[in-house]
Amino acid sequence: MRSHYCAHLSENDIDKEVTLCGWTNSYRDHGGVIFIDLRDNSGLIQLVCDPKDSVDAHKIASSVRDEYVLKAIGKVRLRGEGLTNPKLKTGKIEVVVKELIVENPSEPLPFVIADQNVGEEVRLKYRFLDLRNPKAYETFKLRSKAAVAARNTLDGLGFLEVETPILTKATPEGARDYLVPSRVYNGEFYALPQSPQLFKQLLMCSGFDRYFQIAKCFRDEDLRADRQPEFTQIDIEMSFCEQSDILNVAEELLKNIFGACGHEIKIPFPRMSFKDAMEIYGSDKPDLRYDLSMVEVADLFLDSSNEVFSSIAKDTKKNRIKALKVPKGDTFFSRKHLKELEDFVTKFGAKGLGYFQMKEDGLKGPLLKFMSEKSINELVKRVNLEIDDIVFFGAGIKKSVLDYMGRLRIEIANRLNLANPNEFNFLWVLDFEMFEVEEGKVKAMHHPFTMPKNIDAQELENITSIAHDVVLNGVELGGGSIRIHKKDIQEKVFEILGISKEEADDKFSFLLDALKYGAPPHGGIAIGFDRLIMLLTKSESIRDVIAFPKTQRAQCPLTQAPSAVSAEQLRELGIKIRDKKEK
Ligand code: AMO
Repeated sequence: MRSHYCAHLSENDIDKEVTLCGWTNSYRDHGGVIFIDLRDNSGLIQLVCDPKDSVDAHKIASSVRDEYVLKAIGKVRLRGEGLTNPKLKTGKIEVVVKELIVENPSEPLPFVIADQNVGEEVRLKYRFLDLRNPKAYETFKLRSKAAVAARNTLDGLGFLEVETPILTKATPEGARDYLVPSRVYNGEFYALPQSPQLFKQLLMCSGFDRYFQIAKCFRDEDLRADRQPEFTQIDIEMSFCEQSDILNVAEELLKNIFGACGHEIKIPFPRMSFKDAMEIYGSDKPDLRYDLSMVEVADLFLDSSNEVFSSIAKDTKKNRIKALKVPKGDTFFSRKHLKELEDFVTKFGAKGLGYFQMKEDGLKGPLLKFMSEKSINELVKRVNLEIDDIVFFGAGIKKSVLDYMGRLRIEIANRLNLANPNEFNFLWVLDFEMFEVEEGKVKAMHHPFTMPKNIDAQELENITSIAHDVVLNGVELGGGSIRIHKKDIQEKVFEILGISKEEADDKFSFLLDALKYGAPPHGGIAIGFDRLIMLLTKSESIRDVIAFPKTQRAQCPLTQAPSAVSAEQLRELGIKIRDKKEK
């Protein structure tokens, strides 16, 4: 229907007759001449409807309201002296309309599209209008570019794009499954995949060698700003590879995606062990755009006159005393701020927050009186304390101290705006522990198909896995591993995880079978595609980069999903809904 997109017109098109289609962004009646800003996905252009040029077009223009869908035929001309709009790409030109057609009128919209203060529920209910915002279009244009760059890169590297099932059996990524009842087999259920993990491993057993998929995954878990129940991964698996091969592929992939979106990134990314990440930054996904780091100082409290500290210091297997230095912190933090920071860590299990301040006239702080002069001097040296610095202390059980001190590090960085919002800081975290114990239960830190480095190690916590996470600006962007390709190691891992032979057979017999019949060494990674786009576009929420997202409460205000179904449908599925009181 159109000859041009609105914002593609320029001074080079003066005197050309053009046909434009789009929406009425705004209209103004200036003493008989009507100006319409016409919008399409390229941007805006001004239409001029003057009765001197066309009585009919002017008459129709007088009936036009916001968001009417129009087709306009007219001639491009330069705007008059003093009438240009430098804010608009097409601000030097306009189109004199000779024919105007209303393709469709519009009722007044439920909200003003550009209004930033409209609540999310309303915007998501009318998401099709919300997406008319040019900013949203730019986001999805970039998302599409990134997906094309991913496909082209992986295709170029010899990866085959294969689709895996959506109606399948539970997969073990550790979240709850979304279940789909079977009509044919009442009482039986498909599970939606939490990831294509097992299928991609099977494809390696089939000899496909290199697989990828831009895959939908489904996880019923608590939602946060960077989580959705339904999300997309760039999922990759390769055979006869070492961990470094997977890291190289992922780096090239990310470099090309960022490149396609206008950002040059440096590869290879720095690497850090899980243990160092936890001990130095208190997180398995540290944001290294800023350099706040922790030092272990338990040995300096062995001779402390404070019983609590000295007894914590004695058991360094179980406990930690960490010092976190904030350079020039004393110039930023008043007594009130220090109290707020203490309240912050106590929310996460700290008993208090000790600190030293390096003043012009020497060291100050509540912990000083409990330490020997020798230890104090050593501490000043170890953390390299200079005038106006503050050092915070966390002491107690290792897991808890690392957790709250890691959170404190982020809180301080946020308060002091330490992270450069324009930097993309990538990091590999490697050598994860294979197992973790939660509420007395042994769990796989990644998933149970991750290859351990040393399955025969005496202590569970010393078993590490050949796993890798890629972190961007403190967000876990992707994760993967070398997989177990030998049946005996897989069985041993199930045994440690307390998964019985019967349970393993019931859940993963197909994988165990595949391991029997010549499974090659293999491994892979999955990059969270929505998170990637969220970070690339500096969006606050993952919902901004998903066309039709769910709310924080896993609902879709647009379609009203999830919703009740008819009694007839339930009967067919053999399902009876229990009374709320019965639950
Ligand atoms: P993992 O569970 O680490 O690994 O997931 C990979 C990446 O997917 C993204 N992600 C999410 N994004 C949005 N919403 C969610 N609820 C969500 N959950 C995960 C993250 C994460 O880093 N099968 C393995 C991969 C492998 O081993 O190859 C897996 O799924 O960015």
